[in-house]
Amino acid sequence: MKLLGILASIVLLIAAGVAGLIYNGVIKFDESMFSQASIKSSVGGPFELTDQNGQTFSSQQLDGKPFLVFFGFTHCPDVCPTTLNEVANHLDDEKVKASGLRAVFISVDPERDKPEQMKDYVASFNPEIVALTGTEEQIADVAKKYRAYYAKVPQDDDYTMDHSALVYLMDANGQYAGSFNFQEDEKSRTAKLHRLVGASS
Ligand code: NI
Repeated sequence: MKLLGILASIVLLIAAGVAGLIYNGVIKFDESMFSQASIKSSVGGPFELTDQNGQTFSSQQLDGKPFLVFFGFTHCPDVCPTTLNEVANHLDDEKVKASGLRAVFISVDPERDKPEQMKDYVASFNPEIVALTGTEEQIADVAKKYRAYYAKVPQDDDYTMDHSALVYLMDANGQYAGSFNFQEDEKSRTAKLHRLVGASS
């Protein structure tokens, strides 16, 4: 009886652990989850959205050069402006520039983020950043491919968006090659980027 009780406790503990992992996986994708080769090859994929000039933008336009992808929205109070600022700084790095790396910002708030809004917004950081928006379906599709999380959160009479803060590092073949986030120190971000573009730090 006592042994059965212990066994039952162990089973419960394991179940709770697995449930916790699943919960974390759905709510927040942490970087370590991407380190497995099987997951690596499943992050990213083709998409078609609309750029800040109102033109159709296909992921094929990114072929042949490394690129960064991150999700956010123009009404974001902190994470997005911080990330965009950091990315804009990285785009000024000579080694990064020489690689032809492009940065792609995808809105998770297509209801408010129309191309003009996206254009004005990224222009204040770096107009070279490709700012994409689309229909709800298009955004859901690309977010799913990148395993990015986002959700609408009511706020007073308005709403805000909760979203994952990862910057995806994609190689010239469109393969996932790692990630960084806005809280990471600059040295670490730079090292990862230099590795991505095949430059020494
Ligand atoms: Ni944000």
